[in-house]
Amino acid sequence: HRLRTHSASGHAAKSGRDEMKQNPVRENFASRAGFLLMAAGCAIGLGNVWRFSYVAGQYGGGYFVLLYLLFLAVLGFPVMVMELAIGRAGQSTFPAAFRKLSSRKSRLRWELPAFVFFAGNLILLMFYTVVTGWLLLYAQAFLRGDFQSTDAARCAELFQELLDSPLRQIIGVAVGIAISVAVCSGGVRRSLERAIKWMMGGLFLLLIVLVVRALQLPGAGDGLHFFLAPDWEKFIGHGMLETMHAAMAQAFFTLSLGVGSIAICGSYTGRDHTLAKESFWIIGLDTVVAVAAGMIIFPACATYGIAPDSGPALTFITLPNVFHNMAGGMLWGAIFFVFLAIAALSTLIAVFENLVAFGMDQWRWSRIRSAGIFGGALFVLSLPCVFGFNLWKKYEPLGAGSTVLDLEDFIVSDNMLPLGALHIAIFTFSRYGWSEENFYAEANTGRGWRLSRRAAPFFRFGVPLLILLLWMIGIVKRFLP
Ligand code: ALA
Repeated sequence: HRLRTHSASGHAAKSGRDEMKQNPVRENFASRAGFLLMAAGCAIGLGNVWRFSYVAGQYGGGYFVLLYLLFLAVLGFPVMVMELAIGRAGQSTFPAAFRKLSSRKSRLRWELPAFVFFAGNLILLMFYTVVTGWLLLYAQAFLRGDFQSTDAARCAELFQELLDSPLRQIIGVAVGIAISVAVCSGGVRRSLERAIKWMMGGLFLLLIVLVVRALQLPGAGDGLHFFLAPDWEKFIGHGMLETMHAAMAQAFFTLSLGVGSIAICGSYTGRDHTLAKESFWIIGLDTVVAVAAGMIIFPACATYGIAPDSGPALTFITLPNVFHNMAGGMLWGAIFFVFLAIAALSTLIAVFENLVAFGMDQWRWSRIRSAGIFGGALFVLSLPCVFGFNLWKKYEPLGAGSTVLDLEDFIVSDNMLPLGALHIAIFTFSRYGWSEENFYAEANTGRGWRLSRRAAPFFRFGVPLLILLLWMIGIVKRFLP
């Protein structure tokens, strides 16, 4: 219930006091666990299971996984610390935090792009709601035993039937959004923190159950071999640069970095722990879930002779077929899809909270009003993604076979997240932005590991250059033959 300003944050202190007059009550988490689980919940989602498993499958497992871990360390970690620091020092949502922390002269330079990148949250949710809806419907179908007598062809048909039906998808979207609105309306401590704690507890429990089961399957060894043993041919088959771009995009996607979702978690936490330590925990939890998901999916695919590189459909066509073949498969399928639905919902809720807080910070809306308005807007904005699979099927924005979902995913994952991260990195280290001194003072406040000043040249130059280079490679690869 206070706006913490930091003496080293310089001009932020004064503008922070101005803000306090307007925003006297800013909630925060009751506990450190609440903060860590909310940030981890925001990070852990479809990216860890749905996206990670098919991207790792396409790029040949092993070396890709290593490259991805490398990018988590060299790009994900620094940007995570910077984004948390901006949120914690700025004590508000993304664009307002840039305004508060930057020098007055350069407000527009930093705040305006922050608005654009902040819109990335909305675009992310425009397809995230749809895929979350599919998962909720799949979880329900497995609980009802609908997949009892389906073979591979029938699994594909069932998924296609879902895609062909705007109504069923809209119901899934509406349920996901209604849950998010209900949780976020209740307040940070009273509702959000409690809900996230329960969800993440359940998620880890189900994850352990599933990993233990998958490792007992006869094909576990082969599956793990595919997942973790390097396949050089496949790795270089796409070209080294493209693979690096894919690994970077996956690293930013899985950590939800670049658009302020992590900053909002930072804005609700205290200064008792250094941000390097907190980032380590968040990235560690996210990575454990991604690797554990691989340890579930690849052994299952290997056991039933199903190719694990079948693209985004892996989760919705390949895996139901795997469960159909497995003894007690309906139960395991239900556990798996409930697990995945929780992971997706925790991200949906955390990113939605960012929108709700934005309405409160920017326009002084009440929490309930902001949740209602953004819930309604998100519902309408999710429709293009739904219609992209049926009514607007002819519209193929990124070439043959592509859908609105691909376009939205491309805008966010390939552009907004890396460019938002670039903006954060430049802002943090520019003396016209926040400046190195202020950043280090904020990040290193609290107990735990401190960031070394020796890393500053890499943060200042290496991180932005690497992001820019890999972003450009991604664009060139996509649009040039
Ligand atoms: N970080 C979120 C995920 O992995 C977007 O799904």
